[in-house]
Amino acid sequence: MQPESGHRSSHCFPPRRNEYVAAALILSTLVPTATATVYPSNHKLYKFDYHPKSQGYQEPIRPLSKRQNPIPLIVTNSCGDTIWPGLATQSGEGPESSGFELGPGETRNMTVGSSWAGRVWGRTNCTTGDDTATCATGDCFGRLECEFSGQVPVTLAEFTLSGGVTGRQTFYDISLVDGYNLPVGLVYHPAGNTTNIPPNFVNAACIATPGYLMAPNRTGTYYTNSSFPMPYDTSQTNGGIADWCPWDLQAFPPSKPGDGIFPYPDDQIQRPVFDPCKSACASTNDPSACCTGKYDDPNVCKRSNYANAAKTICPDAYSFAYDDQTSTFIIPSGGGWEVVFCPEGRSTDILSTFGAQLQQIASSGQVTDQVKDTAMNLTYIESRPSGAANLKMPNLLAGVVAAVVAVVAAITL
Ligand SMILES: *[C@@H]1O[C@H](CO)[C@@H](O)[C@H](O)[C@H]1NC(C)=O
Ligand SMILES: *[C@@H]1O[C@H](CO)[C@@H](O)[C@H](O)[C@H]1NC(C)=O
Ligand SMILES: *[C@@H]1O[C@H](CO)[C@@H](O)[C@H](O)[C@H]1NC(C)=O
Ligand SMILES: *[C@@H]1O[C@H](CO)[C@@H](O)[C@H](O)[C@H]1NC(C)=O
Ligand SMILES: *[C@@H]1O[C@H](CO)[C@@H](O)[C@H](O)[C@H]1NC(C)=O
Ligand SMILES: *[C@@H]1O[C@H](CO)[C@@H](O)[C@H](O)[C@H]1NC(C)=O
Repeated sequence: MQPESGHRSSHCFPPRRNEYVAAALILSTLVPTATATVYPSNHKLYKFDYHPKSQGYQEPIRPLSKRQNPIPLIVTNSCGDTIWPGLATQSGEGPESSGFELGPGETRNMTVGSSWAGRVWGRTNCTTGDDTATCATGDCFGRLECEFSGQVPVTLAEFTLSGGVTGRQTFYDISLVDGYNLPVGLVYHPAGNTTNIPPNFVNAACIATPGYLMAPNRTGTYYTNSSFPMPYDTSQTNGGIADWCPWDLQAFPPSKPGDGIFPYPDDQIQRPVFDPCKSACASTNDPSACCTGKYDDPNVCKRSNYANAAKTICPDAYSFAYDDQTSTFIIPSGGGWEVVFCPEGRSTDILSTFGAQLQQIASSGQVTDQVKDTAMNLTYIESRPSGAANLKMPNLLAGVVAAVVAVVAAITL
C-alpha cells in the first residue's frame, strides 16, 4: 500500500448529545493519587449485559483459571523505533510480564486468565537500567515492569474479558481519554467457539500520527481480508492529521522560533511527527473536561475541542468520559487479543457501521447468516457516514443503546 498524502481538512460538528447513559465515572483504584488523574473508561455501563431475562438469561459463570484456559495477549511493535509496552492488571490473572522492551518488528506472546481486566499502552523514548525505565511518555514510576498505569498522555487498549452481569461478554476499547501517544490497533484471535465473528467487526485501529496513514484500501490492512471489507475513516490525510491535537495540548510543543517571525502559538509551525497529545481532562483536571463533580452527568458534560478532534481522527476510540455508545466494543467471551503499536492502515469506523450487528452477536452469541451477509456487503459499508459524521449518533445505534439500557434497568432494578 502507498502512504497517503494530501491536504488538511477541517470539520465542523455539533457537540454530541448523550441522553441514554446515566452512568457515573468510577476512578480506577489502581491509580495512585500522586499521579495525574487518570479517568479510565470503566463506567458502570461496563457492568451492563445484553442478556434479557426473557431471552435466555443465564446465571453468571465461574471463569476458568489461566492454567485451565489461557487467553492469548500478544503485543507487537510495528513502529520504526523500540518501544516499552506497559501492562496494568485491574482484576483477574495478569500476563507474564507487566512491562518490557520490544524492538521494531518484534512480538511478545503472553497469556492472561479468562477473567482478566486491564490495559496495555506503549512507553516511548525510555532510558533503561537493570529493572528501570525512565520514559518520555507512558512512564510507570521509572520501573521497567509496571505496577500502576502509565503517565499520561498515552493511547490505551483496555480489556474486560469477562464483562457483563454474567461474565459472558468481552468489553474492550481503544481510549484517548488519557491522551494519545502512539497509533494502536487491536487484532482479535478467536477461540474455537468464536471463529465466525467477522474480523471487520472486531479489529479496531486508531491512527493519528502522520506517516502511518495508508491510502484507502478495504482489504489491504492486516485487520481483515478481502471477504470482509473494513469500515474505516476516509476523510483524514497524512497532511491533515499532523495538526489534530489542539496546540496547547501538545505534550512537547515545538519551541518558539528565535526570530519572532512566527506568531506563537501558531499551527504554521512545523510539528514533530511524534507529537503526543494530552487530553483536555488530563491537561487541566478541570471538572468540565473530566466530567466530574457537577459535570458528572451525560447531559451536562460537553465534548471538549480535544474530544471532538480525537473522535474525528479515531471514530472507534473513546474520546471523553461519556463516549460509551460509539467507543465500547462488546462481543461474546472466548478469544484473545493482539495489541499492535503503529499498525499499517487507517483508523477504523466499525461501531457506527456495525453497532447493531455487534449488539446482536453479543446478545445471542451467534452470527446469523444475515449478519454475515451485511459484514461482507461493501455497498452497505460504503453507504455509511464516516469520520466526523459519527459525532451525530446514528439513529439506529441510538435506538439500540436505548433498548440495551432499558434491558439493563430491567435486570438490575
Ligand atoms: C505467538 O502467537 C502467534 C499467534 O497465536 C503465533 O502464530 C506465534 O507462533 C507465536 N510465537 C511464539 C514465539 O510463540
Ligand atoms: C521518541 O519515540 C518516538 C516513538 O518511538 C519516536 O518516533 C521519536 O523519534 C523519539 N524521539 C526521540 C527524541 O528519540
Ligand atoms: C490493497 O492492499 C493489498 C494487500 O496489501 C494489496 O495487494 C493491494 O495492491 C492494495 N491496493 C491498493 C489500491 O493499494
Ligand atoms: C477471511 O476471513 C474469514 C474469517 O477469518 C475466513 O473465514 C475467510 O476464509 C477469509 N477469506 C479470505 C478470502 O481469506
Ligand atoms: C467459548 O468458550 C470459552 C471457554 O470454554 C467460554 O468461556 C466462552 O463463554 C465461550 N464463548 C461462547 C460464545 O460460547
Ligand atoms: C448490500 O447493502 C445494500 C445497501 O444497504 C443493499 O441495498 C443490498 O441489498 C445489500 N446486498 C446484499 C447482497 O445483501
